[in-house]
Amino acid sequence: MRVTIAVLLLLYKCLIFAPNAATELVASELSTKDDNLLENKIKELTSALKIFTDLLQELGATKKKLQATEMRLNALETSQQPLMSRLANSEAQIDKIKMENKDRPKVAFSAALGINGFIGPVNADSTLVYKNVFMNVGNAYQQTTGIFTAPVRGVYYFSFFYHCSTKYETWLYLYRNGKKEAEAGQHNTQHAMAANGGNGLTLLLEKGDQVYMVLQKDSWIWDGDNVTVFSGFLIDAM
Ligand SMILES: *[C@@H]1O[C@H](CO)[C@@H](O)[C@H](O)[C@H]1NC(C)=O
Repeated sequence: MRVTIAVLLLLYKCLIFAPNAATELVASELSTKDDNLLENKIKELTSALKIFTDLLQELGATKKKLQATEMRLNALETSQQPLMSRLANSEAQIDKIKMENKDRPKVAFSAALGINGFIGPVNADSTLVYKNVFMNVGNAYQQTTGIFTAPVRGVYYFSFFYHCSTKYETWLYLYRNGKKEAEAGQHNTQHAMAANGGNGLTLLLEKGDQVYMVLQKDSWIWDGDNVTVFSGFLIDAM
């Protein structure tokens, strides 16, 4: 009986671990009459079998865990679907805004009178030509005439500042198409001092409207170190 079990176990072991050598091994085991040896072999095989069944059990448990993980992953994927489509929507919207922004006109300029001294007192109202152009995106400001021409209908912001001595008056006007819109200036004082003035305003301009600065008759203005500057930019086309 013991021998039968031993042989069976041996066969089992051989089939699992070395099927090709099975026949050879059985033959050599049968020829051995040593009981102790057989008992040792049985012990060895039993422990191998135990390891094997333990492994099988572990494998079963791992498989279950894997299946559970797969289910959770599937559930997660399903729950992500609305998020993913919202993300795709947002991306499309960003692209649309980028495209619109690309076509949006960009207009901005800043220029100083660019002299080192006085202009005036002038004997007639005179359009000021700001020669020192800092930047002129869209080229709506013309450096040779001092005139800004609106390239599109829209809301624009303009500012102008000056610095001058008060020996004579300074009256500086922002004009739109021959009409005064805003001013800055000072009266002359008995004891000449230095004065600063400026103004800023937002205008709704039609395409082609012209904006420029005019120095009033009998007044003067000074620049040095870019202290007398005229600026404007498009806030939004309408
Ligand atoms: C005035 O503007 C010019 C040109 O942008 C620049 O080179 C110069 O340094 C400016 N002067 C001062 C005092 O900022």
